[in-house]
Amino acid sequence: MMNIADFSADSKSDSLKECIAKNPILWDELEKHPSKFRVLTGERTTGALHIGHYFGSLKSRVILQSWGVDMFLVLADYQAITDRNSTEKLKESIFEIILDYLAVGIQPQKTTIFCHSMIPSLNQLMLPFLSVVSMAELQRNPTVKEEITLSGTKSVSGLMMTYPVHQAADILFCKGNIVPGGKDQLPHIENTRQIARRINNLYFRGEKFFPEPELLLSAPLLLGIDGRKMGKSLHNAIYLKMSEDETAQLIKKAKTDADVHITYDPINRPEVANLLRLYSLCSGDAPETIADHIGRKGASALKKELTVAVNEYFRPIRERRTQYQKEKAFVWDVLKEGNIKANAIADKTLDDLRKAMHMQYY
Ligand code: TRP
Repeated sequence: MMNIADFSADSKSDSLKECIAKNPILWDELEKHPSKFRVLTGERTTGALHIGHYFGSLKSRVILQSWGVDMFLVLADYQAITDRNSTEKLKESIFEIILDYLAVGIQPQKTTIFCHSMIPSLNQLMLPFLSVVSMAELQRNPTVKEEITLSGTKSVSGLMMTYPVHQAADILFCKGNIVPGGKDQLPHIENTRQIARRINNLYFRGEKFFPEPELLLSAPLLLGIDGRKMGKSLHNAIYLKMSEDETAQLIKKAKTDADVHITYDPINRPEVANLLRLYSLCSGDAPETIADHIGRKGASALKKELTVAVNEYFRPIRERRTQYQKEKAFVWDVLKEGNIKANAIADKTLDDLRKAMHMQYY
């Protein structure tokens, strides 16, 4: 069994400050009273994680973990098939994401990592939940609508329409009351709150059996190196798992603009500003300071220095990742243990709910 290094993220980092700025009261509560909260978040299992995930969410998860907040991370493999039919890569994706988690400092003794397809009672919660949601409500969810448009499909699956309800089961099975996520998750959290309220009113006489979770908004920090949204399918992301050479190659190709004089101007020069922001996140210096320092040396100097800064920042994370990669059995054990814990909680929640619904027959 590998020894998991006690790697605690540097506390008030710049990326965290941006998150805190979006909800200072909640962050303050989390730090002062961690035991009042259960955090549930996670991702679709569509591939390894990139530095956008890292600065946008992984880093703040490690901080919540270091404060002693009880945290659950769901690997949402059923959600990965909302807009695709292929399942062959799910196993590899799950493995890669767990490696990313361990590499950045998620500690399985403190944080439960599980995969929702292996938690039967969680999935069964979806049925009573579906009974309290109308078709019109499902069709109104703006995030789902956008995903349907993006996928370009003419035939929308039932899972696509109902996955926000499944996500409510991800959150409520363990009575999660805080859900870190981007603003695209807001409609889903609204659905979850509605479901919790309706089930509480219908079967628990308004008693708060399920909490109404709150979104802990993460900051959208980085664009891809081509200036578009950083995305798994766009080949514009620096992955945690990349080598230093691959990172250098990608940064070399980064989009900049015709003005050789480097300035920090997020409105008029979004691509250059994005590189400066990344440099800032890795070095701790303000983007304006970095821009002044590069000045007339231009984009190629910026890219060179940025490459060094990124590779230096991620070196220890990447080294840990390489170590864990060699420990296959350990990585799967992390998931197995997490699933055991999640199953016990889900069974209890479902049992209590079925009792309240008069559905325990003998
Ligand atoms: N919808 C999230 C995403 O696309 C993944 C997810 C699934 C999730 N279940 C969740 C996030 C529960 C927060 C809580 O990344």
